[in-house]
Order: sequence, then structure tokens, then C-alpha cells
Amino acid sequence: MSDHILEMKNITKTFPGVKALDNVNFQVEQGEIHFLVGENGAGKSTLMKVLSGIYPTGNYSGQIIFNGEVQDFRSIAESEAAGLAIINQELALVPEMSVYENIYLAHEITKRKIIDWNQTIHMADKQLKKVKLNVNPGNKVKDLNVGQQQLVEIAKALSKNVTLLILDEPTAALNENDSENLLNLLVELKKEGVTSIMISHKLKEVTAIADSCTVIRDGLTISTLRKEEIKEERIIKDMVGREIDNIFPQRPKYKPREVVLETKNINAYDFASSKQVVKDANISLRKGEVVGLAGLMGAGRSELALSIFGNPRDYERTGDLFLHGKKVNFNHPGEALKSGVVYVSEDRKSEGLILRQDVKQNISIANLRSLSKHGVIDKNEEIIVAEKYRKDINIKTPSIEQTLENLSGGNQQKVSVSKGLFSNPDILILDEPTRGIDVGAKFEIYTLINELINQGMSIIMISSELPELLAMSDRLYVVAEGKITGELSKEEATQENVMKLATL
Ligand SMILES: Nc1ncnc2c1ncn2[C@@H]1O[C@H](COP(=O)(O)OP(=O)(O)OP(=O)(O)O)[C@@H](O)[C@H]1O
Ligand SMILES: [Mg+2]
Repeated sequence: MSDHILEMKNITKTFPGVKALDNVNFQVEQGEIHFLVGENGAGKSTLMKVLSGIYPTGNYSGQIIFNGEVQDFRSIAESEAAGLAIINQELALVPEMSVYENIYLAHEITKRKIIDWNQTIHMADKQLKKVKLNVNPGNKVKDLNVGQQQLVEIAKALSKNVTLLILDEPTAALNENDSENLLNLLVELKKEGVTSIMISHKLKEVTAIADSCTVIRDGLTISTLRKEEIKEERIIKDMVGREIDNIFPQRPKYKPREVVLETKNINAYDFASSKQVVKDANISLRKGEVVGLAGLMGAGRSELALSIFGNPRDYERTGDLFLHGKKVNFNHPGEALKSGVVYVSEDRKSEGLILRQDVKQNISIANLRSLSKHGVIDKNEEIIVAEKYRKDINIKTPSIEQTLENLSGGNQQKVSVSKGLFSNPDILILDEPTRGIDVGAKFEIYTLINELINQGMSIIMISSELPELLAMSDRLYVVAEGKITGELSKEEATQENVMKLATL
């Protein structure tokens, strides 16, 4: 018998107009941490959906051998019964329920056909200890942060005696600390015999903990690298099919110009949590400048950005906002838009994109006026614009008429960024613009940002990837617990200085 826990042979899966997987071969050894990497749209999520029965047998061609047996999963329930659990990026927990209810949901512990709550809580507590999550099992899931919710998902998987854990970009929305905890947990679980497959665009994670790594490109298996072969440059080369020398384009030298935006003593209160999320924030932004907002997740960077953008739905804001030296008061994002201020949300699903519409419509809606003549949209212009972004930042789609919900996660994100760029505002606020985007496409996005800056646009950029923020910002503010704890010039902005201020 081979020591492979999993073999996927000649897997082919097509969608209308797209061959997402083309004879993919994928093998995972017992007890290893195996990374699956590749550009946006390469087919990673699709391969894992085939494996876990989300795309049932008959929906693809090829063979899955798991634990030495050929498997024809017809549903997630069947793959789970075989010892396999998938944790998707969109978490599947019920926010209103408690942690213990979530962990044992749909496989309740019963005694004489009645749910045994005492035993459920006791067992849930045991699972939480295993994943080192220190919360009360009675807490509601909605009161946990994303990192903690992720751990609850893993606890849930462990409670079902999983032997193969699949994680699709689990750290995309996690901060450094939570990401590190998650990676450490996978290493711990490995010692107990749990095998993991992890999808990630963060190559540092691959070099840190992978035992092996499979690269796929355009639905084809390109390589499987063993631990000693795993180097960032090698992975990138296999991912994109050529060598990439620079991860960041050269930034134009910044010459200070006039201030376009200034805030004075902004305070914001979140209605939902009745917490003060922004405390006395004073920031400024100059023409043709990229100002970074650094800080840990939950520090209040998005809240500050949203306060500028006029989001009264969630916040009560006090303080003053000056645009080109004039006092303004945006009560609604629409008013900010009219004044040339645009915010691209970190949460592309709930804000920004319309998943049921196509790529072209999602981009063009950002600036219909520029596409219209006498109030009528010029359809040709609309196509030209969408094709330009498709080409510039490599949006992978069979056509710009494709419905957005059929695009891979990273490609949806590219549409969200395109939309922001096309709106061509004076001031653009980009909140985690490269989340879930592959290395090659990140470079293209940075290049577009540089072009727009050259043309005089001003950008506030929020990013949890510090190297990116340091490379792209002309100046930085660090935010911690809602307060600005420091302002750093390009020269002063080092990882160390930022982290010091971020944890004040
Ligand atoms: N439901 C669907 N309908 C049509 N096409 C789809 C569907 N789901 C995925 N695709 C296409 O299949 C290809 C692979 O998508 P997949 O989601 O597997 O990519 P991925 O490698 O996970 O990318 P990312 O890193 O962006 O998450 C893409 O070209 C995508 O557009
Ligand atoms: Mg994916």
C-alpha cells in the first residue's frame, strides 16, 4: 500500500465556457501539510470542491482515492463521514448560535434520543482546548473575531474525527498573530496524525510550514515540490510561468504638494457595539500621495476610512473634515462620491459588487457618466473599459459578460479594485485591495496605483500586509485601538517602528 492518504487522478471539471481543471493529478501523503498554490482562477478551490463532494460524483471526471479506497462522494456529508473536512473562506457557522451548538450542529450528542447538553458542552470544551481557543463555549459565534471563528470551524472538524483537513485561504482575513496561531495549530495537529491541505496566496506560510506543495496553473498540475525544494522564487516561477524579479514596482519619487484632505478630531461611535471605534483622529492627505493606514486588525482603520467616506448607517461621527481646504460633511457615501471621494471596501461581497451582474456592468457602474452621451450609455465604450481592466490586471474570465459569482475569489477582488480605479476619484480609499490576490496580479495593481498617483490622484491605503504597505506608502499613520499612535515618513517606516506603534 502506498503512504498516500489521497490521490486525485485525471480530474477534469468544466463550467460553461471554462475548463477549470484539466486532467489534474494531486497526491497527498499521510500526515503531511500540503499547500495548494496557483494564480487566481487556476482551479484550486474547484479541485477542493471536487474532493469534498461539493461538486458530486458525476459532475467531474477522474478518480479520487482516499484512505486506499475509490470514493464517489455525492455530498459534503459523505466526504465528512469518510474523515474529510473542508473549511471554506466563507465560514459556515451560525452567528446567532453558541460555540458549542455550532461545534455539534448536525451531529448532536444524544442520550436516549435527546440532546445531552451537559455532555455537549463538556466535549466542546475539550475540542476548544485542542485548538487552543480560550473562549467560553456558551459565547455566541457572532461575538468572536474572524480568527476565533476559524478555530471554531477547526474544532468542529475535529469533533467529527477528521483525518484530512482542507483549508481554503484560511488566513486571508486574519491578522499576523491569528495567522501564526493557525499555522502552529496545523503543525500540532500533524503530530496527532491529522493531514492538512491548505490553499494560500501568502508564500511565507508555504516556506514556513509546508512539507510539500503543489502548484497548479490554468487547471493543469505544474509541479509538486518537496520541503527541500520549496523556495518563494521557485513557487512564483511555477505559478506564473516566468521569473519575477520584483514584487513591487519602482515608486515615483514623491514631491509634497497641496493638502487635499484633512480630518480634525474625528470620533466615531459604532451603534451596534456602542463602542468608540475612532478616537480623536487627525490625518491629512496630499495630492499625488499614497498615505498608508497601518495597524492590527480591528484597530479602527476601516472605521476611520468609513467615517471619512460618510457612512452614517453604522457610525455616529463627530469632528471636522476638510476637502481642498473647505469644510464638508458627508452624511451618506453618495455625497462623498459626488465630491470625488471613493472607498473600496475590504468586504467585496456585502459592499460594492453585485454578484448577479456581469464583470462589465460591475466596473462601468462606478462611472456611468464618463460612458454616457446625452444620458445614454455607450455600450462600445463600456466594453472597451472592461476589456482594459481585464487585460491590465489579468481578470481571469471567459468573457466580460460572465456573471461575477462565477469568478474565482481573487478575480472578484480584481473587479472590485477595477471598479474603484475606474471611478477615477480625486481621493481613493483602498481597504485591503490585494486580499486574496496572487503575486503577479498584485504587481499589476501596484503599477496601476502608481499611474493614477502620477496623474494626481491621492490614495489612502489600508493593508494588513506590512511589506506591501511600506513599499507603496509615501507616508504612514499607525492606528491602535481607534487612536492614531504615530505618523511615519517613508524613511522612518520600518516593520519594527510600525509594530511598536501598532501595539501601543
Ligand atoms: N460556478 C462557476 N461557474 C463558472 N465558472 C466557474 C465557477 N466556479 C469557478 N469557475 C471558473 O473556474 C476557474 C477556477 O476557479 P477557482 O475558483 O477554482 O480558482 P482559484 O484557483 O480558487 O482562484 P482564487 O485564488 O482566485 O480563489 C476560474 O476560471 C473560474 O472563473
Ligand atoms: Mg479560490
